[in-house]
Amino acid sequence: MVDKLAIDGGTPLLSRDDYQNWPVLTDDDRRLVNEVLDSGIVAGATGTQVVALEKEWAEFTGARHCLTTGSGTAALHMALVAAGVEPGDEVLVPSYTFLATASCVLHQMAIPVFVDIDPRTYTMDPTKIEAAITERTKVIMPVHIQGCPADMDPILEIARKHNLHIIEDACQAHGAIYKGRKCGTMGLAGAFSLNNLKNLCGGEGGLFVTNDETVLRKGDLVRYFGDECDEKTMRQKYNASILGYMYRNQELPAALARGQLMHLDELNDVRIRNS
Ligand SMILES: Cc1ncc(COP(=O)(O)O)c(C=O)c1O
Repeated sequence: MVDKLAIDGGTPLLSRDDYQNWPVLTDDDRRLVNEVLDSGIVAGATGTQVVALEKEWAEFTGARHCLTTGSGTAALHMALVAAGVEPGDEVLVPSYTFLATASCVLHQMAIPVFVDIDPRTYTMDPTKIEAAITERTKVIMPVHIQGCPADMDPILEIARKHNLHIIEDACQAHGAIYKGRKCGTMGLAGAFSLNNLKNLCGGEGGLFVTNDETVLRKGDLVRYFGDECDEKTMRQKYNASILGYMYRNQELPAALARGQLMHLDELNDVRIRNS
């Protein structure tokens, strides 16, 4: 028995050394990260590791296209721009989520409108969505919170009925499956985070997925300063056609994420069993 709980100033039973660091690192991580160091190439949109991660994540999720990004928030913002969201437009987000789901909407000078969650699943309640739709609504952004998929069928149906786009915030849902479909692949675009708290970790970073080539190209413009790229040589034109940002990632986080991806299914199975 303790007299006082640690939160009230008592002595904690566990010290920092009693916790394991996340992520669990394996020889696959070490091998891939060392490949980067040995190659001497640490950056670039066509770097070996970022290109391989984009291909492997597309294969893993079943999405047609993938881009590595600097963060999950960046991937969400790219998706909003690609969906045509403009200042003053409204984007429906769940009232329970990490703040970036709403702040990426503000980055586009649009308005996040909160839709309450279903207390059973902690995800956006489909029965509350239609009451929040106005003539300014452009996008519904369900969040697959802590790997629990939002109830996508009714959400997709409402989006179709009202001619709205779906952008999935799958930042916490790597490998989560809704009725046979991977989370992040059911709407116009999906976003994943690779930050240090996620079940697929690159240290920092994100992944943007879409099945739509136009969305891919627009997202890519936003990702790199809005700078046009020569189709043949793949070189920058130094001619920005839209306001873009610097949202690219680089080789070391991509290599780590690739190593982690090799063990994602097995670690997700452990988590599901534990929960
Ligand atoms: C639900 C949700 N959305 C968005 C984000 C943003 O991801 P990042 O931290 O990589 O920008 C996170 C993670 O922090 C998240 O949990």
